[in-house]
Amino acid sequence: MEAVLPSHIGDGELALLVHIRFQKAGFSSNYGRVVRFKDIQREFRELCESAGARIAGVVVSSRYAPDPKYFTGKGKAEEIALEVRSSHAGLVIFNHTLSPVQERNLEKLLKCRVLGRTGLILGIFAKRARSFEGKLQVELAQLHHLSTRLVRGWTHLERQKGGIGLRGPGEAQLETDHRLISVRIKKLISRLEKVRLQREQGRSSRQQAKTPVVALVGYTNAGKSTLFNQMTSGKVYAADQLFATLDPTLRRVDLKGGSHIILADTVGFIRDLPHELVTAFRSTLTETRDADLLLHVVDASREDRDDCIMQVQTVLTEVNAGKPSKDADQPVLMVYNKADLISRNPGIDRNKQGRPVRIWLSAYHSDGLEYLLEALTEIFRNQKNHGWIKLGPEESALRAELYQRNVVQSEAYDEQGQMVLEISIHDRDLESIGLMDRLQAVTMA
Ligand code: GTP
Repeated sequence: MEAVLPSHIGDGELALLVHIRFQKAGFSSNYGRVVRFKDIQREFRELCESAGARIAGVVVSSRYAPDPKYFTGKGKAEEIALEVRSSHAGLVIFNHTLSPVQERNLEKLLKCRVLGRTGLILGIFAKRARSFEGKLQVELAQLHHLSTRLVRGWTHLERQKGGIGLRGPGEAQLETDHRLISVRIKKLISRLEKVRLQREQGRSSRQQAKTPVVALVGYTNAGKSTLFNQMTSGKVYAADQLFATLDPTLRRVDLKGGSHIILADTVGFIRDLPHELVTAFRSTLTETRDADLLLHVVDASREDRDDCIMQVQTVLTEVNAGKPSKDADQPVLMVYNKADLISRNPGIDRNKQGRPVRIWLSAYHSDGLEYLLEALTEIFRNQKNHGWIKLGPEESALRAELYQRNVVQSEAYDEQGQMVLEISIHDRDLESIGLMDRLQAVTMA
């Protein structure tokens, strides 16, 4: 099925944007946090531009609750229809999740394509996916989204074939469309499974080689790709567009003293990432979940940088949902990028114990990267302990924990029947499990 998917936004496609401000005004539906309306609006514009749209105008309105039929009230919907006609927009984008019924009703009334926030983000993801796996995931998410929206008399596929406002196909065509979609979905799932297996193999050989993985995370446009490129001198697409990065990309970075790490670039996060997309992109973020350290890149020049930090933390929690407990203490090093824009000197902030907690740098100007390398070298140097630990029969939870952390190298029993595990473990893991005093025959790796 080669049809252009409905979340596709053509480059330069003229779009009218709609944002409804729900009472409890000044707030967004943003996990209960206060976010300024103007920031949300600005980001919505940026997202639409990043998807390729040209903005014909913005309609803002306020309500107490969404209307089941048109999301907005009937009067406002009719006003939007007039605006569509006068601006010649071919697309209306809502900054909200629309139900299939609302989308359909709006399309009938407005006589043009309507996208909700999920469709918008899917459109962006579709343009930005780089790896084979990322592309498959996006197509799968698009087809799932589309399958809920194929209904009698009015289908997106038909609109693609026949243009805006045409009457929909008959029952037979609809059945064919549904069948084609489900065949394609099955094929995508089996291909994804193969790609995942390959990725797993790559990951386990990295784990065997004990190379620490450091994942860059951060709000979209914070400068992750720029930093990644500067650190690896690789060629990864970086642009002043949201979501320039979609797929994790892995490169080796040499640290001082001969050790090295694998650096992983990941997708940029945004506020209110639709739930169905969090699931769809979970495996894209696997490197994040399994990383030994997260580098949380922040655009230090943004007024709302603290809010962006919280948004990233929220998405990370969602992505990690269902994951074993240890990642609550997955270490994070903050990287305050774009220091040049706030005339701040590059450097390292340390905590009371002298450990690096925050790096200030300018990735674009390659200014301060040495501080980041210094901190990484400190964090990963001389921190692996190799030794034996004895566990009593009542300590099966501890044994499971050690296996979960992938630190066990071999297992045997001594003459007294006690379990003896050979482990190779970082200081911080030893500390967090409380095993500092129990590891025997410690040698620094
Ligand atoms: P996503 O892929 O959307 O998540 O973005 P990203 O975090 O990978 O950001 P990217 O590296 O694409 O950078 C976004 C923009 O910020 C680009 O225009 C960069 O040139 C710019 N930028 C990155 N680092 C700096 C910096 O240190 N200073 C300044 N002034 N601009 C920077």
